[in-house]
Amino acid sequence: MSALVRSAAWQALAAHQKKNSATTIADLFAADPARAGRFSLEAGGLFLDYSKHRVDAETMRLLVGLAAQAQVAKWIERMFAGDPLNNTEGRAALHVALRAREAPAEVQQARERMRRFVGEVHADARISDVVSIGIGGSDLGPRMLTRALRKLHKPRPRLHFVANIDPSDLDAALAGLAPQTTLFVIASKTFTTAETLANASRARAWLESGLGASADCSRHLAAATANVAGAAALGVPPERVFPMWDWVGGRYSVWSAVGVPLALAIGMDAFEELLAGAAALDAHFRSQPLERNLPVVLALLEIWCVNFLGAQTRAVIPYSEDLRELPAYLQQLEMESNGKRVDRDGNEVDYATAPIVWGASGTPSQHSFHQLLHQGTRVVPVDFVLAREPQPSPGQTTLAANALSQAAALAFGHATPGAPHKALPGNRPSSVLLLERLGPRALGELIAAHEHKVFVEGIVWNLNSFDQWGVEHGKVLARRLADGGDAADLDASTQALLARLRGRD
Ligand code: F6P
Repeated sequence: MSALVRSAAWQALAAHQKKNSATTIADLFAADPARAGRFSLEAGGLFLDYSKHRVDAETMRLLVGLAAQAQVAKWIERMFAGDPLNNTEGRAALHVALRAREAPAEVQQARERMRRFVGEVHADARISDVVSIGIGGSDLGPRMLTRALRKLHKPRPRLHFVANIDPSDLDAALAGLAPQTTLFVIASKTFTTAETLANASRARAWLESGLGASADCSRHLAAATANVAGAAALGVPPERVFPMWDWVGGRYSVWSAVGVPLALAIGMDAFEELLAGAAALDAHFRSQPLERNLPVVLALLEIWCVNFLGAQTRAVIPYSEDLRELPAYLQQLEMESNGKRVDRDGNEVDYATAPIVWGASGTPSQHSFHQLLHQGTRVVPVDFVLAREPQPSPGQTTLAANALSQAAALAFGHATPGAPHKALPGNRPSSVLLLERLGPRALGELIAAHEHKVFVEGIVWNLNSFDQWGVEHGKVLARRLADGGDAADLDASTQALLARLRGRD
C-alpha cells in the first residue's frame, strides 16, 4: 500500500466517507440552512458555490488536513521560486512568471515586442486574416480564449485556428483567404511537432504559389517558439520570432507569445488584462489559507469525488456559447498533467488520479447527455460555469435559469411515486463557478485557478504534473509509420491494417 493511502489523513477521510455514506445532499441542506453561504468562496471575479457537493464541515476539515499533510503550502512556494519541479525533465514550471507584474526582464521584453507587433498588424490594412498554426498547448488556450472573448474582437484581422495534420483542417481555413492578405502565426515550443511542421510547410507553399516563388513571404509569417533555428528554417524573419522558454510547459503557455493570435484578436491591452487576472489569482493562491483558497478547494473537491466517492469522470458544462471550447482546453490541462499512473519516484500508484474530463456547452448538452447525468447508473460530478451579465437579455436570463435548474435537479432529484422511470434520484454533486463577467480579467482568473487546481492535485497524488511521456511515445511511433517505415516488429493487427491502408491487401 502506498504511503499516501496508508497516511493518517487519507485513512481518516476513508473512515469519514464510510460513516456518512448514507447522508444525502438533501440531508446536508436540511441540517444546515446556511449551507450555501458556508460552502462557497470568492477569489477576485470568481465565485464558487460548492454547497451541492457531498461534503460537510468535517469533510472539508479532513480534506484540508490531507493538503496540509502533503505540504501544499511549501510546494506552492517551491513553484513560485522556480524550483525544477518537473523532475523527469529537470525543469521548472514557472508559468506564473509570465503574468507577474514584476516579470523577469526577458518576459517584459517579449511582451513589449508582442505589443509592437500587434500594433503593426492592426495598422497594416493589407492583413485581413490571421491563421494560427499549432497543436495541444500551442493551440487550445488561444483558440478557447479567442472564442470566449469574441465580443471584444477588433474589426480586423479575422482569426482562424488550424491544429490537425488532416489536410482538410488547413484547407478549410484557407478557403476564401488570399495569400496577399493572410498572416500565419506558427506556435510551437519545440518547432518539431509533426502536425505543426506539416501545416506550416503547406501554408508556406500556399503563400509561394499565390505570391510567386521569388516573392518575399516573410511579411506573412510569424512564430512563437523556443527553437529560433527551426522558425528561421521555415523563413520566419528573426524580428517576427517571439520567444518561449523551457521553464514553460506547453499547456501552461497561453500567457506567453503563444498568445499572439489571441492578442491580435482582442488587442494587447485586453491581453494584459488577462495576465493581470491570472496574476491576481496567483496572489490569492499564494496568500489564502488552504480552506479559503479557491484552487485548493477545487482540487480537494475533486480528490474527494475521485478517491472517496469513486467518480471516474467530471463534466464541465459552460452555460455560454462563447466558452464552448472550455472543456477541450481543460481536457489537455488536466488529463495531460495528471493522467499518470506512477508517482514522482516512479512507483505505481494504488489510487485513482485525474478523472476523465469532458463536457459541452449548456443548454444544448441538456438535450444530449444530461439524461445520463440525471438518471444513469454512474455519478458524474459536474462543474457548471457561467458568467454574470450586467444587464442580461431575456435569453441570457433563461440560460442562467437552465444552469441553476440543472444543478438543483442533480442535487435534489425529483420524486414521482408509482413512476420509477420518471424519478430523478438526486444526490449528484456539482459546483457552480460564476464569473463576475465574461471578460479578460475573469478569464485569466478562471484559467489560473484551474492550473493551480491541477498543481495541488498533483502534489496530493504525488505526481509530476509537468511531463507527458505517454504523448511523446505516440509521436515517435507515428513518425516511424508515417515515413513508410518498416513495421515488421509491430503486432499483427497493426501490420495488417497498415498493409490495407498502403493498398497491399
Ligand atoms: O501533446 C503533446 C505536446 O507535447 C503538448 O504538451 C504540447 O502542448 C504539444 O505537444 C505541442 O508541442 P509544441 O508546442 O512543441 O509544438
